[in-house]
Amino acid sequence: MVSMAPFEDYQQNIISDASKLTFDYVPDRLVHRDREMKQLFSIFRQIVDSNVGQKAFLTGNVGTGKSVLSKRFCLDFQEWAREKSQAIEFAIVNCRARNTPSAVLLKILERFDPHFPDRGFSTTEMLEILRKHVDRQKVHLIVVLDEANVLVKKSGSDLLYSLTRFDEERIAGEHRLSLILISQKDLIEFLDAATLSTFKRTNTIKFDKYDKEQLWGILADRVELAFYPGTIEEETTELIAEIASEWGDARFAIELLENAGRIANDESLDFVNADHVRAAKAMTHSVITEDKLRMLDMHKLLTLLGISHEIKGKAYITTGQSEKGYAVACEEYEERVRGHTQFWEYLKELEGHGFIGLRLSGKGHLGKTKLISLPDIPAKVLEEKVTELLQSKRR
Ligand SMILES: Nc1ncnc2c1ncn2[C@@H]1O[C@H](COP(=O)(O)OP(=O)(O)OP(=O)(O)O)[C@@H](O)[C@H]1O
Ligand SMILES: [Mg+2]
Repeated sequence: MVSMAPFEDYQQNIISDASKLTFDYVPDRLVHRDREMKQLFSIFRQIVDSNVGQKAFLTGNVGTGKSVLSKRFCLDFQEWAREKSQAIEFAIVNCRARNTPSAVLLKILERFDPHFPDRGFSTTEMLEILRKHVDRQKVHLIVVLDEANVLVKKSGSDLLYSLTRFDEERIAGEHRLSLILISQKDLIEFLDAATLSTFKRTNTIKFDKYDKEQLWGILADRVELAFYPGTIEEETTELIAEIASEWGDARFAIELLENAGRIANDESLDFVNADHVRAAKAMTHSVITEDKLRMLDMHKLLTLLGISHEIKGKAYITTGQSEKGYAVACEEYEERVRGHTQFWEYLKELEGHGFIGLRLSGKGHLGKTKLISLPDIPAKVLEEKVTELLQSKRR
């Protein structure tokens, strides 16, 4: 027998560079986001042209390119400004990971002082120190607060308020700070009156869902960067684009592409076909796994079924609508509808296990209505999974 070095026959014949498929990879150019890029540039060029700080708010659904565009923009804008002899610094903070003012400020300060101590300073002091840094270095700082809604929800809008007023007390001289806020949802409903008044004037750039053609273009670029030539046909990437276009989500599309590549590779093949894509689809959207669903009893499943019926095509529904949906589901499965108090318990438990989101409604709804949302599983997929389980229970 010929001796073989370990792992030698575990070949990687399909994916040539997996780093190009990760979510923090920033492509040199973004496809189909020219309009948004131009819009942002026309706002921010005022920093260089007229020395004034700017604000922009990027909003849109999951996977529409908000985060990646803000990164690409900062890199390119810094370069553009450099040619005009203006120093730009930027700090990108993910507020899901850092959801308090001091954690956010710490991340920003680390751009100027990598050893800045992580305790011992109040946020007011940290803001003062930041001001000294930018003044001393004569840079204009762009702060990107990604998933800003998490910060505001957790810690209020104080920091946003301070940052928007950063340059206000300067009588003359250059502005030193600009702000890009990113959130899937509108931030307005979370802000207090004072912050709101400064945000009324903020430029909003809306990111629409990608359609099939656009997703196909994004995928084609990634295939070129991350796959060996000839390992995946156009028809196959088209199928991925087709599937992902239901949600318009580029992240889902790239995830499908990567998983399909891995599945084909595990089969020791050197090409990806449509069946690998289908298998990849089945294993994605794993937040709500079948294992987790199996833990639920009949009535919690019926509650989920009712919700998935009602919520289709909507961002959220009221608890009243969900209760109606639950009653319909009970009827369908010939189960006695449980009372209101009991139904609330179901909702709270489902929330506790991460199956649904539950929050107080903002303005516009009377009283203390609560709103129900689904995590990143599409209603249709949830409906299918729950139905399957309910039917196996009935058998
Ligand atoms: N126009 C594009 N061209 C190339 N790649 C893109 C484009 N839009 C999105 N992507 C890629 O799709 C993935 C998701 O994009 P991104 O993280 O920017 O979405 P997002 O809008 O921030 O979503 P979320 O709201 O969930 O944070 C990333 O891997 C990103 O690189
Ligand atoms: Mg993002």
